[in-house]
Amino acid sequence: MSPTWPWTGRPHRLLASGRQALAWLVTGVMPPRARVLCPACMCGSVAAGIAAAGAEAVFYSQDSALHPRWDELAAAPADAVLLVHPLGRRLPVAPVRALKRQRPDLVVVEDISHTLLNRAPLIGVDFAFASLRKLLPVADGGVAIDCRGRPLPEAPPASPAPSPFVRKRLAGDPSAEDDLDAWGGPPDGIWEGTLRALAALEPAALRRARRRRYRQLAELAAGPDVVPLWPRLPDGVAPLALPLRCRNRHDLRRRLQREGVAAQPYWPVPEAARDAAGIPGRLLAGTLLLVMCAPGGQALGTGSGVRPARGRAAAPARGGIARA
Ligand SMILES: Cc1ncc(COP(=O)(O)O)c(C=O)c1O
Repeated sequence: MSPTWPWTGRPHRLLASGRQALAWLVTGVMPPRARVLCPACMCGSVAAGIAAAGAEAVFYSQDSALHPRWDELAAAPADAVLLVHPLGRRLPVAPVRALKRQRPDLVVVEDISHTLLNRAPLIGVDFAFASLRKLLPVADGGVAIDCRGRPLPEAPPASPAPSPFVRKRLAGDPSAEDDLDAWGGPPDGIWEGTLRALAALEPAALRRARRRRYRQLAELAAGPDVVPLWPRLPDGVAPLALPLRCRNRHDLRRRLQREGVAAQPYWPVPEAARDAAGIPGRLLAGTLLLVMCAPGGQALGTGSGVRPARGRAAAPARGGIARA
């Protein structure tokens, strides 16, 4: 496999999905029924991985850059914290290191699903995991990484035949996502076909392609009422999506669709995030359009490949922490 994947040279386990990789970490390295701090604004499937491992998701609020409110994390009674690097932008290193110094008891897990192709995808405090199909042109896959260099528990071996999820996904059947949403059982091995595809991919070339695409999309979407949320694309970042604020995201979405460009009119946050103060829930629901930066990942087989999260969580207290 390419020497530049973030798991190369670190103890890791490959499983069939991101949520399974997360469940694997929760079961393997956290105390039973752990309390895991999670960003209120994240994909609900992540909460599914936590619940499947018998742990409890407790939501924290974020600022408009989708960064945690670090003080809140330091004070929260919990066993672990999940940090999601959003849409290709890695969270800043200093507050993560400071948090670990303040709270050495807190297990830090980074979700690198959106930064996998970055030159520097993770901070590397304790553990990381990713959904491979979010950013890469593969049909399934999740990876759990131990950044401390210690061995992880064994995971199921790679499966020689595609799972029903993968078969449906390759056939473009949108109900594949329902299968994964309903998942709650034992973890599955990654498909061997995905491993072969991974070995053939070149992360640096994919990163360049995504950066080119981001710029093309920004030009295509430009208009008097369209404002890029993050106009600068930092060096080394392979973006998952181009987030745009616009007066009417449905009009813009239709305009882009006519050009053959997939865009998502919502961010699939858990119900918990929708009304929370202190997180950009209203912003995301009201004015934001995510234009997916294919090539690779996300759109393979199932349209946008993303569905709104089902409500599995209670709303956080205003600007504070809430239990799932
Ligand atoms: C940031 C992030 N992490 C993890 C996941 C879960 O990955 P998977 O669908 O492979 O279980 C998703 C969405 O699916 C996601 O958006």
